[in-house]
Amino acid sequence: MRFKDKNVVILGGNAGIGLAAARLFKAEGAKLALTGRNAESLAQAAGELSALGIRSNMANIADSEAAMHAIGNALGGIDVLFVNAGVGGFAPVMEITEAFWDGIHSVNLKGAFFAIQKALPLVRDGGAIVITGSIGSISALPGNAVYAAAKAGVRAVARILAAELLPRRIRVNMVSPGPTDTEIFKRDASAEDIAGMRRLFADAVPIGRMGTPEEVARAVLFLASEEASFINGVDLYVDGGCIELKR
Ligand SMILES: NC(=O)c1ccc[n+]([C@@H]2O[C@H](COP(=O)([O-])OP(=O)(O)OC[C@H]3O[C@@H](n4cnc5c(N)ncnc54)[C@H](OP(=O)(O)O)[C@@H]3O)[C@@H](O)[C@H]2O)c1
Repeated sequence: MRFKDKNVVILGGNAGIGLAAARLFKAEGAKLALTGRNAESLAQAAGELSALGIRSNMANIADSEAAMHAIGNALGGIDVLFVNAGVGGFAPVMEITEAFWDGIHSVNLKGAFFAIQKALPLVRDGGAIVITGSIGSISALPGNAVYAAAKAGVRAVARILAAELLPRRIRVNMVSPGPTDTEIFKRDASAEDIAGMRRLFADAVPIGRMGTPEEVARAVLFLASEEASFINGVDLYVDGGCIELKR
């Protein structure tokens, strides 16, 4: 019960890693607010977890501001902010358009930054912020330039925030997943493509399989908890050894 009576806000809490984290936070006593774009999955997650569900597009700064206003009214303050919402997309350099770049960066980098900025007045002194990065930010994976740049950018932001927020004792850490079995890589893919991607990812991971959303979420809870009270500014790879065993 590390989060008993704590207010935990998960941006992108209605699917995948965010929903897995929401379930674990709830099991440890947290009071939850979840955001997402998909009204149906958001209502379902909020109902299951007795959470406040707020439909909000993190690419839209006014949406983030309105979401924080609603969270402030309902919860008063935030003990843990988990900034998890993100979108993926692969394209080789010569096929990258401005719209493709903006689609990813408006959520994963600009959206994440402004959501944190709008949330900060509500985050209590001594609180914790955890941001979902990606091992993609430091991997030379062909086709991943745009996503990698956004996640590397948010990693840079996290380090600066960790330093800027020291006077308020707010710790800022990242969890960077390796290949994790969620919808992010399955959208618009055929069953055959999905099976092929699973095999490819499993081969690429030293442990020999993709991670589960719960395995990533457990690291999020650790960094958000008092158990990590002396950890600030880290980027924790939860990747079956992809980064550290392949250096
Ligand atoms: N799965 C992996 O292999 C992997 C690896 C490295 C990093 N990551 C990162 O992990 C995070 C979670 O992804 P996931 O794998 O759990 O994928 P997912 O199942 O697709 O979940 C993505 C979550 O982000 C939300 N989201 C996306 N765009 C949003 C927006 N514009 N505004 C508000 N919410 C938005 C989604 O809500 P809606 O469905 O309502 O849009 C959903 O809750 C992302 O930041 C992703 O980049 C994933």
